[in-house]
Amino acid sequence: MVGYKKEPTLGLLFSDTGVTADIEKSQRYGAQTAIKHINDKGGINGHELLSVHTDLGGDPNRFRSYTEELIKKENINIFIGCYMSHTRKAVMPAIEKSDSLLFYPTPYEGFEYSPNFFYGGPAPNQNSAPLAAYLIKNHGPRIVFVGSDYIYPRESNHVMRLLYKQYGGDLLDEFYLPLYPSFDEIKFTAERIKNLEPDVVFSTIVGHGTSLFYEEFHNIYQGEKKPTIASLTTSEAEINNMPNSVSVGNIVVAPYFSSVKSKESSLFLSECKENFPENVAVTAWSEAAYHQVMLLSEAMKVANSWNTACIRKHIYNIKYKAPQGLVWLEKSNNHTNLTSRIAQIDKNGKFDIRWTSNQPICPDPYVVVHKLEDWTDTIIKAN
Ligand code: ACM
Repeated sequence: MVGYKKEPTLGLLFSDTGVTADIEKSQRYGAQTAIKHINDKGGINGHELLSVHTDLGGDPNRFRSYTEELIKKENINIFIGCYMSHTRKAVMPAIEKSDSLLFYPTPYEGFEYSPNFFYGGPAPNQNSAPLAAYLIKNHGPRIVFVGSDYIYPRESNHVMRLLYKQYGGDLLDEFYLPLYPSFDEIKFTAERIKNLEPDVVFSTIVGHGTSLFYEEFHNIYQGEKKPTIASLTTSEAEINNMPNSVSVGNIVVAPYFSSVKSKESSLFLSECKENFPENVAVTAWSEAAYHQVMLLSEAMKVANSWNTACIRKHIYNIKYKAPQGLVWLEKSNNHTNLTSRIAQIDKNGKFDIRWTSNQPICPDPYVVVHKLEDWTDTIIKAN
């Protein structure tokens, strides 16, 4: 067996505290559930798959220094993790310089390529494009954007702005809140949005501020009909932090929801039930972490190695039947072919799936295809 360390070891780059702790815990437990599954079935050709982690507090500096420490002191070269895009950017130099690998199980803004990164969450053509088509068709043209103030919301909105306008949509305004918004900042923003009378609000708020914003937005309408909030990042982890009366009717696009009915999804959910603490939600990004570790382990087994060059050589040939459906990596851009689903939250806080792509959507992180209908055929043509 050719390798760097005696046993294959993954560095898990996630937070237990900080603004996106709830979602990052859902990702870490997703990765650890896959690791347990692999080890229960004999590990990597008889070698136990190990992992190490510490709480990175959502702080890009801690993400960078812990990654450097694991590379230099522990000889670890394979990582999974990062949620917020500025934490991914923070670890990039250390990962690239050491020719390590990062598996990134998170939706993000696109427009990035690293030979050392494997992107397991959707790029904008796999989530924003179908969502734009769906919203225009079902909710109306008048939209307002609200997001947290950092790279992912600002860049995602750049793409969404162009997509919405292509179909005659009207972007009324966009607002950015700090990662830890005050009550006054949220209330002021919610009131300004209400005054604009949009049909729909596109939210790229992440973590802690999500439930605070959804609740205050609900409160200011005082029972009147309110616009739907649609999001790429609001997951079970954030929905669980708000009353059902607040979450009902809102919309999310993601490759996976725990309401997906398939053999693979049922198995995944029963494994999560065994491995996740009660207060950690199973989310699309738990599934992304799970399927990325499974893809990696298949590549390690075929390569009979955990040397990163050997993994890279084999990983593009692997197709894995994930809880969301078949997934595989695109060699030209290191992003993943993923299914896209749009769900509306029902009165019990569950995700009611309203649309599923006919097949996994090929990732186009540079938005090379400029026409909305090229990605969203089934939504545009449906009556
Ligand atoms: C994100 O920052 N990519 C959610």
